[in-house]
Amino acid sequence: PPEHQPYRTSFHFQPPKNWINDPNGPMIYRGLYHLLYQYNTKGATWGNIVWAHSTSTDLVNWTPHEPAIYPSQTSDINGCWSGSTTILPWGTPVILYTGIDPQNRQVQNMAMPKNLSDPYLREWVKSPKNPLMAPTAANQINVSSFRDPTTAWLGPDGSWRLIVGSKRYSRGLAILYRSKDFFHWVKSQHPLHSAEGTGMWECPDFFPVLINSKLGVDTSTMGPDVKYVLKLSLDDTKHDYYTVGTYNIDKDIYIPDKGQVDGDSGLRYDYGKFYASKTFFDSAKNRRILWGWINESSSVNDDIKKGWAGIQAIPRALWLDISQKQLVQWPIREIEKLRGNEVRLPKQVLKGGFSFEVSGVTASQADVEVSFGISELAKAEVLDPSWKNPQALCSKKGALVDGSLGPFGVLALASKGMQEYTAVFFRIFKGHDKYVVLMCSDQSRSSLNNNNDKTTYGAFLNVDPVREKLSLRCLIDHSIVESFGGEGKVCISARVYPTLAIDDKAHLHVFNNGTQNVQITALSAWSMKKARIY
Ligand code: FRU
Repeated sequence: PPEHQPYRTSFHFQPPKNWINDPNGPMIYRGLYHLLYQYNTKGATWGNIVWAHSTSTDLVNWTPHEPAIYPSQTSDINGCWSGSTTILPWGTPVILYTGIDPQNRQVQNMAMPKNLSDPYLREWVKSPKNPLMAPTAANQINVSSFRDPTTAWLGPDGSWRLIVGSKRYSRGLAILYRSKDFFHWVKSQHPLHSAEGTGMWECPDFFPVLINSKLGVDTSTMGPDVKYVLKLSLDDTKHDYYTVGTYNIDKDIYIPDKGQVDGDSGLRYDYGKFYASKTFFDSAKNRRILWGWINESSSVNDDIKKGWAGIQAIPRALWLDISQKQLVQWPIREIEKLRGNEVRLPKQVLKGGFSFEVSGVTASQADVEVSFGISELAKAEVLDPSWKNPQALCSKKGALVDGSLGPFGVLALASKGMQEYTAVFFRIFKGHDKYVVLMCSDQSRSSLNNNNDKTTYGAFLNVDPVREKLSLRCLIDHSIVESFGGEGKVCISARVYPTLAIDDKAHLHVFNNGTQNVQITALSAWSMKKARIY
């Protein structure tokens, strides 16, 4: 890899070199957090996949270990693909993962720690009974669409359950298995859930969330206080979608709530780049934490030149919104330890057509929180009923297209002469019976290098600007702008590769390209320190 590496991140997880993808088997064991992940031992593109392994006391600083799971058995000789950890009731962690066998069939295998008194759990022993789940002529499972087992949950009947992602023709499937002893797994006649036309379901995740609480619960928690979330990574679109619903334990089926949509018109964890994510229950802090893989938006050639590809998103706490219709996500509090000097601005009016620089922060490595107040709501532009697709609307109305209320927001990783910047902003429209808030991340001017994918991202944000402030947080880390709107109701992660706005040449601005004034009710920006990651 070349000496100068302007796109390496400072507080996002990444190994020193090579390709990474899905987070695997995250857990907390004896007070130590474990992150395992898909890793190519040999290069910056996908292949030669093992489970790389790091541990941490705070989810911010990491200690690398040798790969925990790598091909060594017949049942995984062609690859060790994604999977999950389950902590058994007496505290022992068990990994279930997908192995690729000599016929290139996808099968599910188990591994257990070799030495439970090693807090790092460095060595894992595979079951001689592997594979524990395999496609057969009798079960009619598609041999190349059978992967990524979830964390198992324990039913009131004493049986464990888990799902494995699959498809039949174009119907996405969450194949359900049950086991009394964690070794013998029996496929259920019916899937936990399925949906026509959604294609292969990769990396499913199924977990309970508390009603009216931000706290998380163990994956086996049931009862009237919880709703359920089913998350699917759609291979066809490479986005992570979820629905909120109920779990009928008698029938062993998941039913999305009315109004929740399966597949690619449903809700997303993140409306930018974010895939193959997985949650775990942090029993030390009673929260559910989400890890997600953020791939590059650069060309394969550029990835090979820089010698690496892929990072993990900042872990996010996740809980059910009070509306019970969507999730809310927020970067784990621990990341705030990296905040250095705070630059705080007084309340002020941000006039229509004006922008200013926020100076005094390391703009290439920063955490920014800004809140807007809007008084001139009556002046909002009318939402054309045909503008149904928020991403398309953000592309049509980028940061330079002036409106009435908005675009206003942040220009991250901006070059001195404004040849480059990534714009994260809001627009407010007058809808049929309410105001509609659009949140956009516009990468079209993020880099002078046109080999990068500079697609604009966007989502509608369920915030009522009449009663609520409109907040935006951006975690800026050299080649990523990870944004949280409405205190975590919409997340958008974008990978960007400025050629001028790098290191100390990057600037941070607040802008309002609308004709109407808006209020900045609070603005704080912090330079971020570097985390110790490898
Ligand atoms: C998702 C995925 C999984 C698979 C793994 C292989 O990104 O394709 O379905 O197990 O990556 O690396």
